[in-house]
Amino acid sequence: MVELLPSILSADFARLAEGVAAAERGGGTVIHVDVMDGHFVPNITLGPPVVKSLRRVTKLPLDCHLMIENADEFIPAFAEAGANWIGVHYEACVHLHRTIEHIREHGMEPGVVLNPATRVDLLYDVLPMLHHVLIMSVNPGFGGQKFIPFSLEKIRRLRELRAERNLGFRIEVDGGVAHDTVAAVVEAGAELLVAGSAVFDGGQPERKARQLLEAARSAELAAAH
Ligand code: DX5
Ligand code: ZN
Repeated sequence: MVELLPSILSADFARLAEGVAAAERGGGTVIHVDVMDGHFVPNITLGPPVVKSLRRVTKLPLDCHLMIENADEFIPAFAEAGANWIGVHYEACVHLHRTIEHIREHGMEPGVVLNPATRVDLLYDVLPMLHHVLIMSVNPGFGGQKFIPFSLEKIRRLRELRAERNLGFRIEVDGGVAHDTVAAVVEAGAELLVAGSAVFDGGQPERKARQLLEAARSAELAAAH
């Protein structure tokens, strides 16, 4: 079943607890946390201390999307802070296999994230090790960007690879997921839908989360028939 992962990047950082609670009431089942270092991406956000604070205000799994260099160095700190899922970028990890093992050894669920220009097939060998694969449908760094349409083809390809080999990883999509794109990403095969601006921009996050999730669920039902 399709799930909504509200991205707190677009929430008010001075009122994160309220934002998370509203998104949760609206049906969000995992909280997506965007970690940026100003090197891998041209923006800086937050790190383990904020994850630790979030851990105190929600029981939902925390999905940490690391847009950082040297991810290995920070994995223990995220584990200690209470992160549940860790997604690292293919483009930022030279020894990806080792990094994935490192995440598991620290008791968290490993995922790999692909930039729009990175081919899905490059993950072929590590797919059996993964809890999730995150397809970026914008270039990482900022909320509120426009959805890149060829991401749909990548989601379909990933679904195909999973079916061919009977694997269990989940398919996540991040960037530009909103009312005008949600049906297409669900039809293509995405199950974990990250949404930042579509939930938090302009207020009423609870209502917006609920509406987006409803649209996603109807697309899922339609695709099943
Ligand atoms: C972008 C982040 C996203 C961001 C998505 O680098 O990875 O999680 O919050 O924002 P929207 O949903 O507004 O495209
Ligand atoms: Zn993200």
